[in-house]
Amino acid sequence: MSYILNNIHKSFTDGASNTRSVLQGISATIEQGDFVAITGVSGSGKTTLLNVLGTLLTPDSGEYIINGTNVTLPGVELEEIRNKHIGFVFQDFRLLPQYTAKENILIPLLANASKVTAEQEEYAEFLIKTLGIEHIKNQTPSTLSGGEKARVSICRALINRPSLLLADEPTGQLDAENAEVIASLLQKVNEEFGTTIILVTHDSNIASKAKRTLRLANGNIQ
Ligand SMILES: Nc1ncnc2c1ncn2[C@@H]1O[C@H](COP(=O)(O)OP(=O)(O)OP(=O)(O)O)[C@@H](O)[C@H]1O
Ligand SMILES: [Mg+2]
Repeated sequence: MSYILNNIHKSFTDGASNTRSVLQGISATIEQGDFVAITGVSGSGKTTLLNVLGTLLTPDSGEYIINGTNVTLPGVELEEIRNKHIGFVFQDFRLLPQYTAKENILIPLLANASKVTAEQEEYAEFLIKTLGIEHIKNQTPSTLSGGEKARVSICRALINRPSLLLADEPTGQLDAENAEVIASLLQKVNEEFGTTIILVTHDSNIASKAKRTLRLANGNIQ
């Protein structure tokens, strides 16, 4: 899979009708297997760019081409693209509080089926083992540490075997040591599964785990 942004613009209008141009002509090509860090100061548009990459946000103009398909055109089944190809790790993790860690990981599989197959369950166990959270898999989110929640969230994002993993400041709430562990796990996912990873972080230490860094400033990649 390849992901090509071509001259992407995105503005927002606030309640007082002031328009802010957040993305001002972003172009970038991300090939399968890449590991890209997106950095930039608060408000520089990192989350906005990640949401465009995840097809959660439609740009005002420009093209976004996923494997040859321009997904900014009307009529494209964005939900199908997202479910099949893209995994998300949100900054606040968004785990469901009433379910255990393992149940949270299995939940995306239940969007299109009434129960989980034996093969899917086996894959969940493999991810749980790979991310080192076997010991907490039966705990609910409120009983987990920040680093454990991050790992559960990464497993959940990987359960559908996405080709692209998008992670928005997954280490933002962690201490330096735990942030480093999570970044190393993402590196392992990139290397061992070949998953393309786009990681938003304001931390240059964490960004250094990626293969390259795109720095956002003044609406563009510097
Ligand atoms: N839905 C929206 N409506 C209006 N303005 C928005 C909206 N989403 C984002 N913005 C504005 O766009 C700018 C970029 O926001 P964005 O969330 O992409 O920044 P960021 O780089 O992720 O910041 P942070 O590091 O604080 O998470 C900000 O000024 C924000 O206020
Ligand atoms: Mg953000």
